[in-house]
Formats: sequence, structure tokens, C-alpha cells
Amino acid sequence: MAICYNLPVFQMRHLKVMQAVEDIEGKLVRWLDSISRALTFHELELIKVETIGKSGVLTLAFKELMHLSIDDKKLFGERLNRAKNSIESAIANRLKHIEILTITEKLKNETLDITLPVVNGQFGSLHMITQTVRRIRDHYHSRGFLVLDGPEIESDFFNFDALNIPKHHPARQSHDTFYLDGLEETLLRTHTSCVQIRTMMKMGLPIRMISIGKTYRNDQLDSTHSPMFHQIEGLVVDRKGITIGHLKNELKKFVATFFEVDEVDIRLRPSYFPFTEPGMEVDCRYTKENGRLRITKDGDRWLELGGAGMVHPNVFKASGIEGPAQGFAFGFGLERLIMLRYGISDIRVIFDTDVRYLQHYA
Ligand code: PHE
Repeated sequence: MAICYNLPVFQMRHLKVMQAVEDIEGKLVRWLDSISRALTFHELELIKVETIGKSGVLTLAFKELMHLSIDDKKLFGERLNRAKNSIESAIANRLKHIEILTITEKLKNETLDITLPVVNGQFGSLHMITQTVRRIRDHYHSRGFLVLDGPEIESDFFNFDALNIPKHHPARQSHDTFYLDGLEETLLRTHTSCVQIRTMMKMGLPIRMISIGKTYRNDQLDSTHSPMFHQIEGLVVDRKGITIGHLKNELKKFVATFFEVDEVDIRLRPSYFPFTEPGMEVDCRYTKENGRLRITKDGDRWLELGGAGMVHPNVFKASGIEGPAQGFAFGFGLERLIMLRYGISDIRVIFDTDVRYLQHYA
């Protein structure tokens, strides 16, 4: 409708806004239709900009309202609001719908059929450490041992005092302990022997358990040392009748299973661990064949595997064991066993993330 310049100003405004509102109501059907057919967020955004955006048709019409009489404001305001609301709710509904469409489409494209054959022959595998821990656990489970855990952050009571290593004992120095900042008595355990104490305190006798876990010492990383490594701890205790003979038998069974040979020869060599009496070093016979190590009971050389001994009376005392008690304990380094079994000469290979190593030793 043409604007008549001879009308009073308020009437001209009335006409202008009425025209705008009618225009909007006429287009509303088209907008709603476009919204209901929009397939992308972008399409919706365009309609939004055109209608209720900052300079959208509706927004501008709203701005005109302020020049009108109160009655006109009410009349046209209501009609504009209705149009705005229907656009907003239509957009919101469609938005939800598009979201669902997008997700459905994505799922359709990302479907993974795990029953299809592997094409490139690349399978994942468990890490050597995981495989080895599982094998060792299976072995001891089959021999009636409990497999228990202990914390890696320990107090020096469990790591040292209770194991008959008092404050100024030289053995503390040789452990190169990581102490926790600001916590004087708290450390990263230097061996798994702490689990011996925790188990005796918690379970009392008899005990037949192993524990496998991480241990820490402040050593420079080189081909045979790592500041983090794993140990296997064993503890068998009863009121009486547990002897070095039982210890030796248990060690033999383990070494044979671990290296997958029928028979092995074990030697217990006197040594010193404050928490054992007597303490001993565990060796086993092997030979070298074409530069490779082979564990065999007729081997001509001795290989050092770990420590062992009969539990020291002070350890029983510190663990709250009263009355007679007798038993043995042993401790092995897991990485050393892995290196021997897989023929690895550098411990860093075990912790390297190079997939080629992992695949090779899988
Ligand atoms: N805890 C000892 C170490 O870390 C190993 C050990 C365990 C020795 C049990 C004897 C008995 O070296």
C-alpha cells in the first residue's frame, strides 16, 4: 500500500506497521515450510537471520512498534509476538530433528563390523609385562597361592622398619629411595616385601600368597636399570613345618613353568637380607647355545634369579604374629625374568613404546 503523505503522522505510522505485520504473516507460512524442510544447521541459521536475527524482518518490525499509540502497540505487538514464537519453536523443533538425523547418519557411516576378517594382518597384542604377570599368576593360582596387592606409595614402616631395617641401617642407603615431597615418612616402595607385612597383619596364619607389582628406586635408566620395575613377592608361613626344602621345591616349580622346561636345577647361595634368617640368593643352571641362553638342569653355568630366605623372627614380631611361626619368602625382578626368557639385553626395550618391539615380542 502506498503511503499517503497528507495523513497525520500517527496514522502514517499505523499504516506502515500494519503493512509490515501483514507482510510478515503472509510470509510466515513460507518460513515455517522452509524450516520444516531444512536439512542442515546452516539452512536453519539463514532463516533465523532473515526473520528474527539482529536485522531480521520481525526484529525491525518490533522496533517500529515504539512509535505507535498504546492500542496499536498492543494489537500489532501481539501479532508480531505470535509470529516470532511460532518461528522460534519451529526452529527449535527442527534443530532437535536435525541433530538426530546427523547422529543417525554418523552412526550409519561409522558402523564397524567386528565379524569381518582382518585385512592387513595387524592384530593388537598384550604387552610382555601383562602377559608375564598373567602367566605367573596362573602358575601360583594352580599351586594354591592367593594373589594379593599392596600400595605403591608406602610408609617407611612397611617398607623398612617392619622388615627389620631400622632407621640407620645401611640397607636403607642401598635402596636409593624416592621420598615424597613434604611427607617425611612416605615413599615409593623399593620392593614388594611390604606386602608380606600387610598380609600377615591382615590375615594371620597360615599364609600362602604372592604379590606382583611396581617398585621404584632412584636409579639412572640404562640397559640394566630402570627407576620403575616390577617384583614378584612370595610368602608361605604356618605355625610350624615350613622348611627351606619347601622353598626350594616351590622355586624349582616356578622356574620350570616360567622357562617352559621339564626340570631345572636350583642352587641356594648364602646371602643377606635383614628380613630373612638365613637369607639366600637363588641361582639356576643354564647353558649358552649359539649365544642364546637356555635353562636346563645339566647346564654348566649358574644364573642369578632373585632373593629368598626364611622369615626373620623380628618380621613376625613387627607383623603382630604371636606364638610359633615358620615360613619362607622370595622376591624376583620381573623385568630380569622377561629379559632372560625373551633374550632381551636392554631393559629399555620393555618400556619402549615402539610398536615393532611390542609386535616382535608378542
Ligand atoms: N626384597 C628383596 C629385594 O628387593 C628380595 C627378597 C624378597 C629377598 C624376599 C628375600 C626375601 O631385593
